[in-house]
Amino acid sequence: MAFRALVLTLMPDMFPGTLGQSLAGDALGRGLWSLDIKDIRDHGIGRHRAVDDTPAGGGPGMVIRADVLAAALDAAIPVEDARPRYLMSPRGRVFDQAMARELAAGPGAILVCGRFEGIDERVIEARGLQEVSIGDYVLSGGELAAQVMLDAIIRLIPGVMGGQASDLEESHEQGLLEYPHYTRPREWEGREIPEILTSGNHAAIAEWRRDRSEALTRARRPDLAAKIPPKAPKKRKKPPAEG
Ligand code: ADE
Repeated sequence: MAFRALVLTLMPDMFPGTLGQSLAGDALGRGLWSLDIKDIRDHGIGRHRAVDDTPAGGGPGMVIRADVLAAALDAAIPVEDARPRYLMSPRGRVFDQAMARELAAGPGAILVCGRFEGIDERVIEARGLQEVSIGDYVLSGGELAAQVMLDAIIRLIPGVMGGQASDLEESHEQGLLEYPHYTRPREWEGREIPEILTSGNHAAIAEWRRDRSEALTRARRPDLAAKIPPKAPKKRKKPPAEG
């Protein structure tokens, strides 16, 4: 069954946004995934459909009410639903390529987009929402984060990328940053394409790319470089037996 995304938001007009364009948009049109958007405000309270209130204990900002968000979740999610439920939040576990791959292989995902100062903690606990962040910075809401996360997942859904093998060589697939790319012309503004890439020696090219990947990763991302396994020593021929 195709990957099914459900997004709960106070800004439904922000969707499909970037997900309606390019690779994700084409795949949506081809039925390789589906996107269901629910407006949390439909479950707001009173004539003004209030969704938030002042924080208990005082302080700045407003907090989304537990009862309102729970009503929105309960109305949107069927009783038996295997999809993991996430709350987009800078407090969450940091989303990465491994998580994107895991989700792309599953039934879909439910993403709750926060706004305001936060969400009443009780609904996070009671409805089993896992907090997930797209990086160590604060956005004004979870909608862009949800689109980033879905974009990364959707391109990994079988059939979306048109059978390109390149996705396994990309940055972060092997815990490394990707090697540099070149194309014609062979010389441009006095800069040549590295000679090895035009040699036709595929084994040597693969080794050069691996070396460049590792060097880039060490220079730019020491956190990732710490996990690079040491290079296997080159096999030496056994010396001929004496006698
Ligand atoms: N909402 C606000 N900032 C966020 C972030 N960094 N990741 C996910 N959701 C967010």
